[in-house]
Amino acid sequence: MSDQGKPVGFKKGLTNYGDREFSVYLRRSFASSMGYSRAMLDKPIVGIAHSASGFNNCHRHFPEMIDAVKRGVLAAGGLPIEFPTISLGETFLTPTSLKFRNLMSMDVEEMTRAQPMDSVVLLGGCDKTVPAQLMGAASADIPAIQLVAGPMSTSRHRGERLGACTDCRRFWARFRAAEIDEQEIDIVERRLASTAGTCAVMGTASTMAIIAETLGMMPANSAACPAVDADRLRIAEETGRVAFELIGKPVRPSEIITQKSVENAWRVLLAIGGSTNAVIHLTAIAGRLGIEVDLRRLNELSDTTPVLVNLKPTGTHYMEDLYAAGGVPAILRQIKHLLHLDCPTVTGETLGARLEDVSWIDHNVVKPFDEPVRETGGLVALFGNLAPRGAILKRSAADPNLFEKEGRAVVFTSLEDLANRIDSDELDVNADDFLVLQNAGPSSDAAMPEAGYLPIPSKLARAGVKDMVRMSDARMSGTAYGTIVLHIAPDAASGGPLGLVRNGDRIRLSVANRSLELLVDDAELDARRAAMPVQDTHKATRGYAMLYEREILQADEGCDFRFLK
Ligand code: FES
Repeated sequence: MSDQGKPVGFKKGLTNYGDREFSVYLRRSFASSMGYSRAMLDKPIVGIAHSASGFNNCHRHFPEMIDAVKRGVLAAGGLPIEFPTISLGETFLTPTSLKFRNLMSMDVEEMTRAQPMDSVVLLGGCDKTVPAQLMGAASADIPAIQLVAGPMSTSRHRGERLGACTDCRRFWARFRAAEIDEQEIDIVERRLASTAGTCAVMGTASTMAIIAETLGMMPANSAACPAVDADRLRIAEETGRVAFELIGKPVRPSEIITQKSVENAWRVLLAIGGSTNAVIHLTAIAGRLGIEVDLRRLNELSDTTPVLVNLKPTGTHYMEDLYAAGGVPAILRQIKHLLHLDCPTVTGETLGARLEDVSWIDHNVVKPFDEPVRETGGLVALFGNLAPRGAILKRSAADPNLFEKEGRAVVFTSLEDLANRIDSDELDVNADDFLVLQNAGPSSDAAMPEAGYLPIPSKLARAGVKDMVRMSDARMSGTAYGTIVLHIAPDAASGGPLGLVRNGDRIRLSVANRSLELLVDDAELDARRAAMPVQDTHKATRGYAMLYEREILQADEGCDFRFLK
């Protein structure tokens, strides 16, 4: 029993046999078969929900990290017990990892609630795993602390630094434009991801790690530490200790993830020029606690938050450089006057207190507030008759020359259509056109893949075109670069106006006005809508696919399931 008289450890949440003492006796008997002494069986339990998997390269060092977490828990006086959950290896899942984020969140929620633990360490890293863990922990609302894999270290190719995955795309674009040959792309393929850890740039994994730290769900300065650094193991050990200390304290996720800490997270997302995917994930995490997100508020914050971090894909450095430059506290220190500093964190101090002893910052990587990489935030939300519920543009990774522009639509009705025609010399396209991809949103069969980074048509790439306006209801990898409008909501498959665009239509993009307008009159759009066959978005007859189809929400609601919000 705990001090408050509530059962702890193995006496918690008993399996129901109709006789409480029998349940304790039976559980202890079975737990004893794992070799625990009676003294250990009586301790509070820190669960370690980890997502190690042979299908997740980013998490290949988790056994070592789990050992370090256990060390921290044991030294503090608790019993650490690890358990696996679903793992989402970004490149190993079809059709997309996003489709399974909510499934993983349900796994985390239900297994932390159903198994006897007094607090839990959430060990994740690869893109969707941290959002899934935070969503699950927010819903279960038992004391929880996040621990991340840490970023990969860079490698070298012909004197250049290489890091997944901005350089993946850069070299692939060079290969498509016939600037490098097959032999060289093979060498690059082997060198892009050469250590354990998450993608080495400001992609989704890095962005979500920084957001988790800013929310207060991780120890200070723990997001950017490289996966292979000895500090990463010390952070894991500290996380185990803190997880034990959370037991019995009123420091649940619902105390940490609040309207104010979510606003801090938006600020940092903008200041780091972070991944567009984080808009969806943060909306979903906040939604689990009833915190509504207004994309118009995102625009207000974006106008007053400069981009300060000089990391790929918007800058030149990598995550390991950010850690050496002072890490997340260095970034937060620069925007301190914009933050709610009284927000609590899992380690007990306020966010403001964490920033007091930030003494040295490498300003090559983290710029001073008044000498930013860009004057305004990395992301903007666009609205208009083409995106009534919003769309997202990562302006920090886009070409400002394309921000105020009208263009002719070149439409691809699906990913298959895109793949079949984008490289055809017959494609009627020029650099001033807008490429439009339909039916790649959350309600489509494709389940919102990171396909929003439409390739430049081969014939234009060969002619030297590096960027053009592209738009879709899909997502984009946080590691990508281009003038790309994403997350158009509602999506085409659910009847959104994106599905009404036809080849040759004119579209006007204005980043200054935050608008995206299809320049077709309402009568014509009504006629097109009336003539469109109704899409069957309920094709699955069983299992998770059926649940997904019926319950998935649009991007502006975080693509969570209706019944989980
Ligand atoms: Fe795991 Fe990029 S593939 S973080």
